[in-house]
Amino acid sequence: MRSATPHTILVTRRLPDAVEERLSRDYTLVRPKDSTAPAFLACFANARDVAGILCTPADYLSSELIAAFPKSIKIIATYSVGFNHIDVTAAGARGIAITNTPGVLTDATADLAMLLLLGAARRASEGDSLVRSGKWLGWEPTQLLGMDVSGKSLGILGMGRIGTAVARRAAAFDMRIHCLGRASKDIHQRLEWHHHEKEDTFWPNCQFLSIHLPGGSATQGFLNAQRIAALPHGAVVVNTARGEIVDDDALIKALSDGHVAAAGLDVFAGEPHFRKEYAALPNTLLLPHLGSATVETRTAMGFKALDNLDAFFGGLLPPDLVD
Ligand code: DGY
Repeated sequence: MRSATPHTILVTRRLPDAVEERLSRDYTLVRPKDSTAPAFLACFANARDVAGILCTPADYLSSELIAAFPKSIKIIATYSVGFNHIDVTAAGARGIAITNTPGVLTDATADLAMLLLLGAARRASEGDSLVRSGKWLGWEPTQLLGMDVSGKSLGILGMGRIGTAVARRAAAFDMRIHCLGRASKDIHQRLEWHHHEKEDTFWPNCQFLSIHLPGGSATQGFLNAQRIAALPHGAVVVNTARGEIVDDDALIKALSDGHVAAAGLDVFAGEPHFRKEYAALPNTLLLPHLGSATVETRTAMGFKALDNLDAFFGGLLPPDLVD
């Protein structure tokens, strides 16, 4: 989109090169000195004509911050599919549109869930540490024995795009797929995958569990002590969705007493902070929210965010309007 007078966008973080190029070609940019609320507000003080914000899931747009936005702000385009970091009610009350980036990060995130699933099952983090420590003395018949994934049951919590993509990948590893809630429209999935209407039949079928629910108050603490207790003994838990969905006390206890054999976690409540017990446990594989972190995917996310801004400022309905 090229217009005679480009709109001004506050961009909270440095984005991949191709996205930055398109951004600076089509918009006037303002950049906060860091990604804190005071830095955003300082930007507004210097540029009262900011028309939109391009933010990321690491930027918390609270109701207080949104209330302090200048009237010129009409749109928040988040560089993410999740939008639980934005107070949507506060934005709605100010008439500010919100867009996200669904679809383009499905495969990258599903791949990472498989990486965590396989890595947690095969004790990848312990193996990596052993090699790096210089203490590895050679091949041993009983060294770092993990567990097979083939033939095991995988419970998918949240059968949206990413959950479905994980199920497809896991099925290729000969895992038996179990899903809770919303049934898939795909006939192949309906035939081959087990859909559970009720939780009491789902949890016992989760030798592996992969979480793909949206974040927010409705799912906060969903994987609690009671649900963890209903998993088979020795289950493996993978979370690439949002840290807040897991009750950390309950998962840490289950990882410590062996009820949960291992966990692969890419997301944490209160990122970048996280419960240090996870790092102290040998049976965890921990990543810093890398689900969508490939050049291709992060570029596609940026272009999607820009498509939304372009449509909005071009007087059209943005394709990924969050309602
Ligand atoms: C999202 O898009 O919500 C992801 O968490 C970012 O990778």
